[in-house]
Amino acid sequence: MAEAEPASSTNFFLDGNFAPVAQERDAQGMAVRGSIPKDLAGNFLRVGPNPVHIFSEEAYHTFDGDGMIHAIEFSEGSAHYRNRFVQTEGFKLEQEQGDWVYKGMNSIMDPTPARIPEGAPSNKNLANTAFAYHNNTLYALHEPSQPTVIRLPELETEGATDFDGKLQHPFTAHPKVDQKTGEMMTFGYAFAPPYVTYSVINATGELVHSTPITIEKPVFMHDFACTAKYSLFLDFPITLDIERAIAGGPALDFEPEHGSRIGVMPRFGTDADVRWFTVETGSVVHTANAWDDGDEIVLQASRSKTSDIASAGLAAENLEDTQGQLYQWRINLKTGVVAEQVLSAVHCDFTRVNDAHACHQTRYVYGAVFNPSRAFSFDGVMKFDNETQTTVTFEYGENRFGGEAVFAPKVGSKAEDDGYLICFVQDETSHQSECLILDAQDIAAGPVATILVPYRVPYGFHSGWVSAP
Ligand SMILES: [Fe+2]
Repeated sequence: MAEAEPASSTNFFLDGNFAPVAQERDAQGMAVRGSIPKDLAGNFLRVGPNPVHIFSEEAYHTFDGDGMIHAIEFSEGSAHYRNRFVQTEGFKLEQEQGDWVYKGMNSIMDPTPARIPEGAPSNKNLANTAFAYHNNTLYALHEPSQPTVIRLPELETEGATDFDGKLQHPFTAHPKVDQKTGEMMTFGYAFAPPYVTYSVINATGELVHSTPITIEKPVFMHDFACTAKYSLFLDFPITLDIERAIAGGPALDFEPEHGSRIGVMPRFGTDADVRWFTVETGSVVHTANAWDDGDEIVLQASRSKTSDIASAGLAAENLEDTQGQLYQWRINLKTGVVAEQVLSAVHCDFTRVNDAHACHQTRYVYGAVFNPSRAFSFDGVMKFDNETQTTVTFEYGENRFGGEAVFAPKVGSKAEDDGYLICFVQDETSHQSECLILDAQDIAAGPVATILVPYRVPYGFHSGWVSAP
């Protein structure tokens, strides 16, 4: 049964199904339309901002919410839903105080003093953005912070890690795991030099390589990409400017005169090895994948003409120009020439591939399809085929919205797309939250199973999948 309609707010990101939920709950034996595949075994995960204590309802930014994980554990055709807060230090501190301690990114200039006690972290590690699974360890990630270790299947928080003191920089929400070597590549960006620092963590979880990456001014470098040989850095024009913020402007803004360039460095290279390739000016929030192809590197990502990241798209004058399309850069390392093209006309983001093939050539890209008129809203899911250059979509239906869909391989899966696409969808008319399971080889056919979740699952950021051992 659907929950009551959520409370309304004048802040878009606290209104309707963006509004947080207060309780942690479990559900089993949920109603299902269709049937849950028996060859689906593991945990589907979705993390997002779920604020408890808010300094200013008006100024609240969706990036500031406490991380909450919504998960469904699949086994033998059954499903177990759980939602849990990530018990970060900042979250626990505000729970103890019973009120806000941290003010949030839009309130940095507000004269009200923060309430951070001595010895407490100066910034809140929100662990609200995305997951990585590496060395049998699940991390909830937040790009200004350290990774937070989460235990499956109960979603208990083990705590933040600095990899035995070796992690000396913020850790992106989008590290890349090369499952063929077991290595995890990561980076972090900062307001102060070095603006970017990169690291490699080996298959046994030891941080074995770090190097600064020099760029001229700090940028919002949310994602990057790796091939088997190279790591790729996107020096694109969403700039970070404290002086602009002090003058009353946005800290993050699209500044086209900054231009766009891609830095290419060997996986274990250093700053001096980075080669920069200038490309058409645009904006990339998320990559899909990259791979080596002879003398060339192929990079695929969701790319938009411009960006409105500061307001999360709510103030965009031409929303369509801020919505990405699947795009490809082919970088020839011998000639220095970069060929670039739009691959699909569909406006999409949250581009993903089968994680088992990250850093290696992939045929398929999955993405969340943008609603053309409401910011930060997704109407369906898409699958792009690099071999046939075609896009297939599945739309959720009227007044139904979703988010990132993740690929979950079938037990014993052989082919790249032999598995399922899983996502949460909200029916905003009936206020019913659902978990959709689509056959990744035939997404147009619609879900093979729709689980009716008895509790509201708010919209969030990224999804993840961890197969059962
Ligand atoms: Fe992201």
